[in-house]
Amino acid sequence: MAHTDEHEGTRRDFLYYATAGAGAVAAGAAVWPLVNQMNPSADVLALAAIRVDVADVEPGTQITVLWQGKPVFIRRRTNSEIEAARAVDMEDLIDSNGRNDNSPDLSATDENRALDENGEWLVMLGVCTHLGCVPLGDGAGEFGGWFCPCHGSHYDTAGRIRKGPAPENLLVPVARFDGETELVIGKENA
Ligand code: FES
Repeated sequence: MAHTDEHEGTRRDFLYYATAGAGAVAAGAAVWPLVNQMNPSADVLALAAIRVDVADVEPGTQITVLWQGKPVFIRRRTNSEIEAARAVDMEDLIDSNGRNDNSPDLSATDENRALDENGEWLVMLGVCTHLGCVPLGDGAGEFGGWFCPCHGSHYDTAGRIRKGPAPENLLVPVARFDGETELVIGKENA
C-alpha cells in the first residue's frame, strides 16, 4: 500500500473519532483487516493521538475507539474484576511481561497494566496477539476478561493471555488522563 494511502486511512479514522467524541464502536468477533495491512509509517505513528471523554463509561462496561487504525478497548472495571486480576499468581501467567508502552519491560502484574493506581481503568489494544482478531469483551472467556473466538485465546480481567495460542498479553498503549474524565491515547505533539 502506498505511503499516501496509509496516511489518509489513518487520518480518516482520527478525524471520525475527533468529530464523534467518545466514538464508541461495536466490538465483535470480526477480523480486523486493517490491523495487519496498514502498517502505519513512522510519521503516522508519531503524530496520532486521540482524546476520549470517558465520563459516561459505567463500571463494568467498556467502549472501543479507533486509534491509528486499531481498536482500543477502554474498560472501567468493577472491584471484583480488579480483585480477580490482582489475585493471580504471576507463575500462572503465560506472558510475564506487562506489555505496557507506558512503562516497558515491567512485569505483568495488574498494577503494572492498569492506567490508574486503583486499577479502575484498563486501556488496551483490542487486537489478539495471535493473528490479530478483535477479542470479545464483557467477561468473555474462561477467565472473565476477553475471548478471541478465532482460535480460542482466553484473556483475564487484566487482558493477560491465560489459555490458547496467543503468545502475549494484550498491548497497553501510551495513554494518560488529562483531568478527571478525558483520556489521551497516544503521544501528543510527538
Ligand atoms: S487471532 Fe485470536 S486466537 Fe487466533
